[in-house]
Amino acid sequence: MTEDWKFKKGTIINAHLKDFNDSRWETVTVPHDWAIYGPFDKEIDKQSVAIIQNGEQVPTEKTGRTGALPYIGQAWYRKEFLIPDLKETQKTLIVFEGAMSQPQVFINGRKAGSWNYGYSYFYFDISDYIVEGENTLAVHISNKGESSRWYPGAGLYRNVSIITKNKTSFNQWGTFITTPFISENKAKVKIKSKVSGNNLKLRTKIIDNEGNEVANESSSSLFGNEFEINLAVLNPRLWSPETPYLYTAISELYSNGELKDKIRTRFGIRSIKYEAEKGFSLNGKITKFKGVCLHHDLGQLGTAINKAALRRQLKILKDMGANAIRSSHNMPSFEQLELCDEMGFMFLAESFDEWAKPKVKNGYNRFFKEDAEKDIINLVHATRNHPSIVMWSSGNEVPDQWGTEGVKRAKWLQDIFHREDPTRPVTVGMDQVKATMESGFGAVLDIPGLNYRVHLYEEAYDKFPQGIILGSETASTVSSRGVYKFPVKKASMKQYEDYQSSSYDLEYCSWSNLPDDDFALQDDKDWVIGEFVWTGFDYLGEPTPYDEMWPSRSSYFGINDLAGLPKDRFYLYRSRWNKENETLHILPHWNWEGREGKNTPVFVYTNYDSAELFLNGKSLGVQKKNHSTPQNRYRLMWMDVKYQPGVLKVIAFNKAGEPIAEKEIKTAGAPDQIVLDADRTTIKADGKDLSFVTVSVVDKDGNPCPTATNQLNFKVKGAGAYRAACNGDPTSLELFHQPTMKLFSGKLVVIVQSTHKSGPIELKVTGKKLKSGKIALNSTSSEN
Ligand code: GAL
Repeated sequence: MTEDWKFKKGTIINAHLKDFNDSRWETVTVPHDWAIYGPFDKEIDKQSVAIIQNGEQVPTEKTGRTGALPYIGQAWYRKEFLIPDLKETQKTLIVFEGAMSQPQVFINGRKAGSWNYGYSYFYFDISDYIVEGENTLAVHISNKGESSRWYPGAGLYRNVSIITKNKTSFNQWGTFITTPFISENKAKVKIKSKVSGNNLKLRTKIIDNEGNEVANESSSSLFGNEFEINLAVLNPRLWSPETPYLYTAISELYSNGELKDKIRTRFGIRSIKYEAEKGFSLNGKITKFKGVCLHHDLGQLGTAINKAALRRQLKILKDMGANAIRSSHNMPSFEQLELCDEMGFMFLAESFDEWAKPKVKNGYNRFFKEDAEKDIINLVHATRNHPSIVMWSSGNEVPDQWGTEGVKRAKWLQDIFHREDPTRPVTVGMDQVKATMESGFGAVLDIPGLNYRVHLYEEAYDKFPQGIILGSETASTVSSRGVYKFPVKKASMKQYEDYQSSSYDLEYCSWSNLPDDDFALQDDKDWVIGEFVWTGFDYLGEPTPYDEMWPSRSSYFGINDLAGLPKDRFYLYRSRWNKENETLHILPHWNWEGREGKNTPVFVYTNYDSAELFLNGKSLGVQKKNHSTPQNRYRLMWMDVKYQPGVLKVIAFNKAGEPIAEKEIKTAGAPDQIVLDADRTTIKADGKDLSFVTVSVVDKDGNPCPTATNQLNFKVKGAGAYRAACNGDPTSLELFHQPTMKLFSGKLVVIVQSTHKSGPIELKVTGKKLKSGKIALNSTSSEN
C-alpha cells in the first residue's frame, strides 16, 4: 500500500473514525518520513544532558543530537482499502515493517492493535474488523522528545501491507529454513513450517537460481501445528559474500487435497562456526568481518526506506571491499536484508540501544520489560531465513552493563534468541569492558563484542572465556569530506571554528581511536574476528565532536559523507579490504592558495607497500610502510612537503621495487563548468527508483575544483522528478528537497526519482558564472 495515503500532523479528534473527512489532508506515499522536510531548528529536541557513556559528568546543551528536524509530535495516516469479496474461509492480516513510533492502528474506527517500538516489524489479524467493500485504516503515530540519540525519522517510514489469505494457510513468518549438514556433494535443507488448518499436506520444492527444481518433498505428518521436512540438495552452491548464491523453497499447503496456500522463501546454503582461538568461519573458511555499522537514515531521503538508495550504499561498500553490515542499533529493513543476500554481505542484526536502564529519558527503557521478548521474536521470525544474517545482537552499550540485573537481562535476551533461532550466536556491543569483566556480563555472551577500547582487547581476551573478541564497533574517527586542517597531528575531540573535522584522518573521540589501531589488532590477533566500523555513511544527528555547536546537525563519523560521497578514509579501508582492485589515492587536494612554502603533508592510501612522491617533477622521496607506528604501517606519509601549486604525482612500487602504478592531482583554476555523473542512467518507471547524480565543477581545463562552494540550481524535465540534494556538509541548514544547494568541497549529489511514466529525463544544473551541466537519463517500464 504505497500511493494515496492521507497524512496530517497534530492532535486531531476523531481521525480514527471511518467517515472522518480527510479530503483536505496532504496526500503522501508510504514509506514516508514526515520530518525530513524540515526546517532544521536548533530548538527541536535540544537536550540538556550529560552523555554518560561518552564520559561526560556535567549536562550541556546538545543541539543537533537528533538532527534538529521536526520528528516530535503526533500525526495521523489514513488510507482506504478494498476487500472486494469477504469470505468466511479467509483471514486478513495487516503487516507493518516499521512505524516511528508507538503506532495505534484503527480499522473502520475500531482499534485493532498497537505497538511501541518504532523499529519493530509487527502484524495483526484484522479479520474481525474489516467489512466487504471499502475499509478505512487510520494509524496514529506519536514521538516524544529525548527518545533517541540520533535522528529516528517519523511516521510510516517502512512498508505497510494487507494480506488476505485462507484461514488454512502458512502462519505469518512461520517458516524456518536451516542447512544443518553441508558436504561438497550434498546439503540437508531442513524446513520447519507452522501452519493453521486441518487434514493438511505439505508439498515443497526447491529451485536454484535459474529456476530449475533441485529437490522436492511432501509430508502429512504434523507435530503440533508444525511440519518438519528435510530435503537433499545435491552439489550445493554455497552462499558467501563472494558467491551470493540463493535457492528458493516453494511450499504448497493442501487441505483435503485442495491447494490452500503457497509461499516462496528464499534462502542460502552456508555454514557458520565460531571457535575459540580460531575465529569465525564461513563454509569452513576462516573469515574476518570487514564490516561497517549503519544507522537507518538514507541521508537526504531521511528514513523512508528506498531500495535504490540501499542498493547504492551497498555498491559503494562492496567497492570498498566490505563484507559485513551491522544494523546499529535496531532492526534492519527487509529490503536491506534482501539486498545483502543478493549482493553478498554478512549481517549482524541488532535489536536494542537500551534495555531497562535509560540512555535518553524517553528511550526504549519505557518498554523494555514488557516488550523486549515480543520485539525479539518478531525480529527473528521475520528475518531468520536470510543467509546474510550470521549473528544477532541483543544490545548496544546498554547501561545495564553495570550491576547484576544486567547480567540476568543479557542471559534472558540471549536465551530468547537461542530459543527462536538455535543456529546463530548473540553478541552485545560493550563499552564498559572493565565492568563486564567483573560482573560476568561479558562471560555470558556467545560473542563478546567490544566497542572501541583497543587497549582492553588483550585483557578481555584473557578474562572472557569465549576465546574470541569481536570489534562490534570500531574507530569513530571523524572527518569532513575534502576539509584538511593544519598542523597535521593526532587529536581527540578536536574542534575548529568552522565546525568541520580534518580529512587527514587523525581525529577521533575521547572514547575512540584511529582506523589503523584496529587494523593492527585485526592483523596481529587470530582471535579478533573482525570489525564493524562506526560508520559506513554519515547519518543525521550525533554531530560529535560538535554536539553543542549549532548548526552542526549530522555526524562526522562516516567513511562516506551524508550524500554517500567517499571521504579520504574510504580509500584507507579500500586499500586494505578490496583485494581485487588497486587503490592509489592522494590527499589532501592541491589547491592551497596562501599556503605557498608552508608545510602541507601528503598522505597516500594504497594497497602497495611503497611509493615515491613528486611535486612539479621533483622527487620528495620514497616512503615505505613500516611498523614504527600504526599509521606508518597502513599509510604512506610525506610529512615535510612545502606547498607549491602545480602537479602532485605518486608512483607506487610492487614488492620487487618496480614502478607499477601512478596517479596525479593538479591545482585547479577558477570554477568554469558544471559536470554531472549518474550512478545509473536508466531507472525503472515505478515511481520509486532513483538516479544519484554527482555534481561537481571543473576549471576550464577540466580539473576538479576541490574547494568550490557555488550555489547551484536543479531542474528536472521529462519522465522524472527532482527528489532531493545533499552536499555532505554536516553544518548545512539548506533543505534537502529544495532544488538549490551550495557545493561543499566542490561536490554534491542530486537525486532524481522516476515517475510511473517511462521516457527520457533531463537534469539540468545551473549556477552563476558557470557553464551549466546537463545529463540525459532514461526511465523504462522493463527491468534494467
Ligand atoms: C558508540 C555508540 C554509537 C555512537 C558512537 C559514536 O559509543 O554505540 O551509537 O554513539 O559511539 O562514537
